[in-house]
Amino acid sequence: MTVKKYNTFDNKPDQNNHEEFESNQDYDSKFSKSLLLWYDQNARILPWRENPQPYRVWVSEIMLQQTQVLTVLPYFERFIEAFPEIKDLACAEESQILKLWEGLGYYNRVRNMKRAAKILIDQFDGKLPEDYELLLKLPGIGAYTAGAIASIAFNKREAAIDGNVLRVFSRVTGSYEDIAKPEVKKEFQNLALKLQPINRPGDFNQALMELGAKICLPKAAPLCALCPLVNLCEAFSDKTTGEIPVKTPKKKRKMEMRSILIIRAKDQVLLKQRPEKGLLARLWEPLNIEGFTSEEGVLEILEELGLESLSIRRIEKAKHLFTHIEWQLQGYLIEIMETKPPEGFIFAGHEAIKNKIALPSAFKAYIKYLPKGLSYVSRTD
Ligand code: ADE
Repeated sequence: MTVKKYNTFDNKPDQNNHEEFESNQDYDSKFSKSLLLWYDQNARILPWRENPQPYRVWVSEIMLQQTQVLTVLPYFERFIEAFPEIKDLACAEESQILKLWEGLGYYNRVRNMKRAAKILIDQFDGKLPEDYELLLKLPGIGAYTAGAIASIAFNKREAAIDGNVLRVFSRVTGSYEDIAKPEVKKEFQNLALKLQPINRPGDFNQALMELGAKICLPKAAPLCALCPLVNLCEAFSDKTTGEIPVKTPKKKRKMEMRSILIIRAKDQVLLKQRPEKGLLARLWEPLNIEGFTSEEGVLEILEELGLESLSIRRIEKAKHLFTHIEWQLQGYLIEIMETKPPEGFIFAGHEAIKNKIALPSAFKAYIKYLPKGLSYVSRTD
């Protein structure tokens, strides 16, 4: 594929110098004015926008990584209610935090938030710093989140480049550069800073994200007729929105087969806490065995655990994607005689599962087999 690089603002091909975007005041102000006008008329009303206190912006931005707005909304409300201030998060029990995050996935996001909250209490008077560089030093806060907090909560002129914004900029500038490359992100970060109006950096950043989420849709589905930037868009005029952005595919996930044993004794289910470190660390799960086990294999495992089975039923297969791993799951529903839980396990009833124990959404397909068949708020990534 030939790589076409443009200086953004004069539309001339530029093979050599794509680091600097040429300045063109007219273009800059047209870009930001059209974008912000559209945003003012179309922005979704969201709780962290209505009240953009730094802590609320932080929580929302962390939740919104890898998760869509609609999914985040109820989580956000519950989280803020449980931990209204940074100090509440800093001293919360990990089990409560994980329970509130249950189903959002990527649990290290919230573990890092708790670590950061402690640092904020110890070193920053319990407040998030306004400065981008200081924000960057906190656990779990990278360039995107630091830029989002600084611009949205503190009105600082900082860029916040997420996947949506990369797509918008790639298309508007007609760039065929690989958006997976850090240097391309950096380029667009510079471009965002240049286009950002002095008085509304946070709105400008959110408008770009919103445009990417609602109009400049991935693949062949952008709604160009509704786009405020259509007249400035290289990809639109070149009919290349289906090709842009260019992104090298991620490495294939490692596939793992697992058997999930939902072992019930009356109205309780047998659960085990995952190991301290690694995937889904310290979250709870049903018995989770490597490989696809047969009914006979299940019987052997139950015997080893000293459990007497009344019935074993093969239930549905399921799949769950983590960042680097794919789980292929085969479920079994097992009724056993009531007994003491084997070492390292607990029996949990409806109340405990509902209110205390965090079960990752990897087991979403089997939630209906737990006591009283709980429903599950689904993640969208
Ligand atoms: N995605 C992440 N943060 C966002 C925000 N503040 N507005 C719109 N979409 C977002």
